[in-house]
Amino acid sequence: RTHRIAVIPGDGIGVETVPEGIKALDAVAANHDFELEYTEYDFASANYWLKHGKMLPDNWFDELKGYDAIFFGAVGAPDVVPDHVSLWGSLLKFRRGFDQYANVRPVRLLPGIKSPLAGRLPGDIDFYVVRENTEGEYSSVGGIMFPETDREIVMQETVMTRTGVDRILKYAFELAESRERKHLTSATKSNGISISMPYWDERVKEMSAKYPDISVDKFHIDILTANFVLHPDWFDVVVASNLFGDILSDLGPACTGTIGVAPSGNINPERIYPSLFEPVHGSAPDIVGKGIANPVGQIWSASMMLNHLGEHAAGAAILEGIERVLTRGGDALTPDLGGSGTTISLGAEIATEISVA
Ligand code: NAI
Ligand code: MG
Repeated sequence: RTHRIAVIPGDGIGVETVPEGIKALDAVAANHDFELEYTEYDFASANYWLKHGKMLPDNWFDELKGYDAIFFGAVGAPDVVPDHVSLWGSLLKFRRGFDQYANVRPVRLLPGIKSPLAGRLPGDIDFYVVRENTEGEYSSVGGIMFPETDREIVMQETVMTRTGVDRILKYAFELAESRERKHLTSATKSNGISISMPYWDERVKEMSAKYPDISVDKFHIDILTANFVLHPDWFDVVVASNLFGDILSDLGPACTGTIGVAPSGNINPERIYPSLFEPVHGSAPDIVGKGIANPVGQIWSASMMLNHLGEHAAGAAILEGIERVLTRGGDALTPDLGGSGTTISLGAEIATEISVA
């Protein structure tokens, strides 16, 4: 079988890490019973924007919709394009257009990486953040009244739909069901946000009745962030609205060492449209061109992509390759992990590890 992949490196270190992800994919495909066919695109980048005055071609939807998955680097070049323009003009269009309503981020302390949380070992931190990815606080409903006067009023509404809330909760409950601990935590703030968040709580309660074997708890977002740091071992699957999930899914990976290793999937669970896999990190303008970007987040994203495509043995083989190289440690690692390796040398080491397995 052949999986057709759209490859979009984007900006900054995305251009450096994506080829390392491809190296790992090629290495694992060589040992398994499937082929990968890549088509690379130059859009969703500052260069494309400079040339065309927009982030994507008008036909992006039809161009991409037939792929089995999208393998994405990062977008953002704040000196060239304002961040809200680059993000809303590309990645957010993909997420919404392709109904990738589940943003899934594993938070797992890998062997060989020191957690910034004192005394935490691999095994102590192993959970998922499931973020609603299409509605909630990130809506365009709102506006400015009486602009540039003393009466200026700025409003931006949260939009929750029953369909939107229920489907992300269902996704999270199903994920919890597939795991050993069968525990789900809901992020809320129903004490302060008095309309939408009580609604969210109510939907969680209703959904939980359908999953009697899953234990459920909830925390307000403020104490929840504290508990991520103080008690990361409490969590198994954490489900959250768009904004809360955004915050938690950066904080989670930060608790497991460098942001450079964290992967994510933007999933369309119904598989009507392609899902998109990308590292959690952005384009890192401060280190671009130095060759020191950690490629592990990109390579782990490749592993998640293969799992989504049903290639579970291959997905596991990539993650095992990453873990063995990290466990060996030493100079091969990139500077963010204390080594002196480069994006390319660490990527090559992981690809070799995958090949010999
Ligand atoms: P960032 O993730 O690009 O960088 C944050 C810090 O982490 C920087 O110090 C950077 O050097 C470091 N870092 C990130 N990835 C690394 C890696 N692989 N290896 C080693 N160090 C790494 O986030 P920031 O600075 O907030 O945003 C920079 C640009 O990226 C902006 O234009 C932003 O909009 C965009 N961005 C794009 C995302 C995406 O494409 N999904 C996600 C987050 C930010
Ligand atoms: Mg974020």
